[in-house]
Amino acid sequence: MIRPILIHPDPRLKKVCEPVAEITSELGKLAEDMLETMYDAPGVGLAAPQIGVTKRLIVMDCVKDPELAPRPMVLFNPQITWQSEDLSTYEEGCLSIPEQYAEVERPAEVRVRWMALDGSEQEEQFAGLWATCVQHEIDHLDGKLFIDYLGPLKRQMITRKMEKLKRERARS
Ligand code: NI
Repeated sequence: MIRPILIHPDPRLKKVCEPVAEITSELGKLAEDMLETMYDAPGVGLAAPQIGVTKRLIVMDCVKDPELAPRPMVLFNPQITWQSEDLSTYEEGCLSIPEQYAEVERPAEVRVRWMALDGSEQEEQFAGLWATCVQHEIDHLDGKLFIDYLGPLKRQMITRKMEKLKRERARS
């Protein structure tokens, strides 16, 4: 089921999310809905707070080449266990901030530990778009958006555009 994606500014996007203690069938269904919502958008990552659920859950698939097999990933309680000193800059966007993009500098590579859908503990090192995406999504779980890395003027400009977009959507 495709869920509506919250648009910034929204207090639910600013909350620190709760860890998941155990994976229930309800949470499995939520992860499935999040993947469906992400692919439909389309996007490469989605965090639970973006659909109004303040739990530590993210989904992602950074395989953008349609010739390659998709790799849907579901990460409960993701934690960065290592980050490279090397930084990389990527032009980021966010499904909660439609059509706004800005360059953000982050560690180029990260190791992440998480709980998988079957409850097992996983750890993997990510680079490239995967590294950017996983850091962006984990930020969402701490109530942080990519525009928080920008200067106050740029951030305010984007926030005003989003307020306007929300007013327009509410009218139609
Ligand atoms: Ni986002």
